[in-house]
Amino acid sequence: MPQGWSCPRWACLVLASRLPSPAPILSAMNAPSYDLDAVRRQIPILGTHVALNSCSQAPQCDVTREAAEAYLESWSRSGMDWDAWIGETEAARTEFAALIGADARDVAVATSVSQATASVASGLDYAGTRSKVVASGAEFPTVGHVWLAQERFGAEVAWVPVRDGAIDLGEYDRLVDERTLVVSACRAYYQTGFKQDVAAIADIAHDRGALLFVDAYQTLGTERFDAPGSGADFVASGNLKFLLGIPGIAFLWVRPGLAETLHPALTGWFGRVDPFAFDAQTLDWGDGARRLDLGTPPIMEAYVARAGMAWLRRIGLDAVGTWTAELGRRCVEGAHARGLTVLGPTDPAHRAPTTAIACEESHAVERALRARGIIASARGPAIRLAPHFFNTVDDVEQGLDALAEVMHATHA
Ligand SMILES: Cc1ncc(COP(=O)(O)O)c(C=O)c1O
Repeated sequence: MPQGWSCPRWACLVLASRLPSPAPILSAMNAPSYDLDAVRRQIPILGTHVALNSCSQAPQCDVTREAAEAYLESWSRSGMDWDAWIGETEAARTEFAALIGADARDVAVATSVSQATASVASGLDYAGTRSKVVASGAEFPTVGHVWLAQERFGAEVAWVPVRDGAIDLGEYDRLVDERTLVVSACRAYYQTGFKQDVAAIADIAHDRGALLFVDAYQTLGTERFDAPGSGADFVASGNLKFLLGIPGIAFLWVRPGLAETLHPALTGWFGRVDPFAFDAQTLDWGDGARRLDLGTPPIMEAYVARAGMAWLRRIGLDAVGTWTAELGRRCVEGAHARGLTVLGPTDPAHRAPTTAIACEESHAVERALRARGIIASARGPAIRLAPHFFNTVDDVEQGLDALAEVMHATHA
């Protein structure tokens, strides 16, 4: 067992129920299996702030800064180096593929999740007997908007209700039918951190002949996620949250063999067989998911995205997953201990690391926390605390203490 590792309490309960009695007494985990101090030294802002906002924007790390500087240096030195820049975009595509256990051939490079979703949506046909889109009420608004925009092409959107910050799987069972073309279900709800069972939703969708689109933006980088094994047909994510990147780049994985059936109306020259054929009069389709590529790729963003994803993979997504789950558990317990209200499910099996704490004046509270050196993320009537692999137990305690104090002082 790695140094510092011990079993989280909820896991102990599960273990205890499976082990011969008497079960061993295990204490809470206080450190991850990797060198947390070494990690923290590579994230400058941690010297002055407690960063608990990775559900919104991850902090700058030495590796991502160096990657951005490598692009700036290349641009400054050579004026333009398209071969190297396109090569870096390909390397980022390959890195994303490796992150989700997939082949680079099945990954498209996008500029946002909005665009990735719109590319998929523009490749589907809503005019036949299957015109229904079943979208979860936990989708980030942009994803819902894209599906609603397809109504002018014949789509009919049905919403899976969110109750108490979570979704009952039975609702998919109720709504997905033989007329359903696609189910849109995020891996985790951006508002409460509620995590959905992709495989179970895929079973329901596929059983009725529908496709499954998964927005995994709120979880990638905090867990090992095997896209081909997940049951999903499409998996999209951007990079600026738990993947340590910046705005302007996103990726879309498409189940092998499926891309070839799509002819997206939202397209561009990088989606062609040979973008450099410069033939405006021929609309051919690139290999695999590449046909969903669009215009000139986001080059600088690709440098940064690759560096962030590669660092997470070097640290190890299993280790990161174990640690972020432990910090998430502490957020919930700590919030309860301070009399704060946690929105959404508290069962660790159904939670991303993000914890949403009810707070009416969330934006004012976010500002007050920032003045104390704590970076959290306001979203609607909640403050989200989103610990990541670099956070400590003390960060969580400091964040919760400050939140409780500020809320008490402002009656938020
Ligand atoms: C789950 C989720 N999906 C999508 C988005 C937005 O994606 P984009 O701005 O890349 O379209 C966000 C947040 O910004 C999000 O949390």
